[in-house]
Order: sequence, then structure tokens, then C-alpha cells
Amino acid sequence: MTRNRRTRSPIRSLRDLDLDAHLRDPTIKQRYVTTLFDAVARRYDRFTRWFSFGMDRGWKREMVDRVVASVAHGGTVLDLACGTGDLALAVGQRCGLAVKVIGIDAAPRMLDVAQDRCRAAGVVNVRWVRGDMMAIPLPRSSVDVVTVGYGFRNTPDYGRAIDEIGRVLRPEGVLLSLDFFKPTRHPWKLLFPLYLTVAGRLYGWLWHREPEAYGYIARSITPWITAGEFEHALTRRGFIVQQMSSRFSGGIAIHHAELIALAA
Ligand SMILES: C[S@@+](CC[C@H](N)C(=O)[O-])C[C@H]1O[C@@H](n2cnc3c(N)ncnc32)[C@H](O)[C@@H]1O
Repeated sequence: MTRNRRTRSPIRSLRDLDLDAHLRDPTIKQRYVTTLFDAVARRYDRFTRWFSFGMDRGWKREMVDRVVASVAHGGTVLDLACGTGDLALAVGQRCGLAVKVIGIDAAPRMLDVAQDRCRAAGVVNVRWVRGDMMAIPLPRSSVDVVTVGYGFRNTPDYGRAIDEIGRVLRPEGVLLSLDFFKPTRHPWKLLFPLYLTVAGRLYGWLWHREPEAYGYIARSITPWITAGEFEHALTRRGFIVQQMSSRFSGGIAIHHAELIALAA
């Protein structure tokens, strides 16, 4: 007997998961985050460009310029929470074969998009790995530069991710992070979450007929930290923050940090 069963869209299945409960509880947060990014993978790049009015390209260009300067003589670059591969691909293309790039992400569908883009662009020095940035599948001191684009906020335990980065980076290796944070001053303290909520719901409705599809972004900022607090977290875990550039009163920030070399 054949049954006419309608498959539920992955976006709609998010409705079954209580977002606030998942954000509160680190033991289940990853399940929500991975389901979400798998569901939006094919639209993620377009969403990011529109949502940021194209500014995301400039922020990522700044990240990549910093990477290029740090591996001028070759090396290994690890892009954590690589998603659809923006940073890893740009680094692979700009640095050429002297630099080996590894992109790691938890969501298989985001990695599928990254792999398709990589093949289409003919980039051969980037390897894609499914993995967890809180348990990086690489040996100690094996990486020269780590990049993380909008990744820390999405992990259940960003402190563990920083510790892991400290383990795989070589002494004096560089960590570059681009992320949303809680703005510290008005008017952005009010406007930033308001914009993220309204625009997230609008694009969710337009593209998936599901306002909650991108509602996660705004909701994930409220329990999150400020850019200054993130700087302290890096410092406590053995990094020196060389530079922090921020926009919208700390709503977006790039942290450029270096792992302190321990005296022998
Ligand atoms: C907002 S996207 C950022 C993608 C990309 N870095 C960019 O800048 O466009 C966040 C990514 O973090 C990934 N992610 C979430 N938790 C993770 C974890 N524990 N380990 C690795 N990746 C994770 C998600 O699957 C998603 O692809």
C-alpha cells in the first residue's frame, strides 16, 4: 500500500524545537544550531549579503587581508565554523599553494555548499571536514592561523572552543574572529537587536514562509557577551589581543589575537 505522505520542510521542523530552551541549555543548543544551518544552507550566502547591506564582504576582506599578512611565507590556516566557505575559499585563492587551508563545520549541508563552491572556483588547496570547534580533530600546535566567522556565538561553550584553538595553534599563532556582540551604547543597544529581529523575520517569511527561520540571530545576541568581554575571555585563555576593530558600538567586532608563547 502506498501512502501519500508529505515531507515536512527542515525549516518547519525547527518549530518543534523550543528556541529559548535550546539557547539556555548548552547540552542541547548544538542540536538547534546545526538543524537551523542545515535548513538554511542553500540561501545562507544571499541572506548574509542582504542582511548586512553588503557590509559582510568588507568585514571578511579585512579578515582575509590579516590572514594573508600572517602567512606570507606559507603555512596552515584553519577556518572554524566555516559554513559555506567564504573565508576559507578567499584565503585559499589569495594565498595560493604555499598555504594549506582546512575548513571545519558542524553542519553537513553548509559543507556541501562550500564544497560545490570550491569545485566551481577550481580551488585545490582547501580541505573540508565535518567537525566540532570545541573538539578540533587536529594535533597540538599544527596550525599557524585560525579564522572564525560568526562562530563563537553559535557554540554551546565558546570558552572550550578558545581552549581548543589554543591547543591547535602554534605559539605566536594568530586567531581572527568576526562576530556579532551586544552593543554597549545607545542608540545601537536598542537599534541593533531591533533591526536583527525585524529583518530576520522578514527574510524568513520571504524565503521560507517561516519568520522564525532567521529569528535565531537576534535571540542569540541577548544571552551573548560584549566584544570587550570576549577580549577578556581570550586574554584569560593565553591570548594577547593585538587589535579589536568594532562597528555599531561593538555590535560587530573583529578580534585579532596572538597566542602567547610559553617560556621553555
Ligand atoms: C553564521 S554561520 C557562519 C558561517 C561562515 N563562517 C561565515 O562567516 O559566513 C555559523 C556556522 O557555525 C557552525 N557551527 C555551529 N556550531 C559549531 C560547532 N560546534 N563546531 C563547528 N561549527 C559550528 C554552523 O553550522 C554554521 O555553519
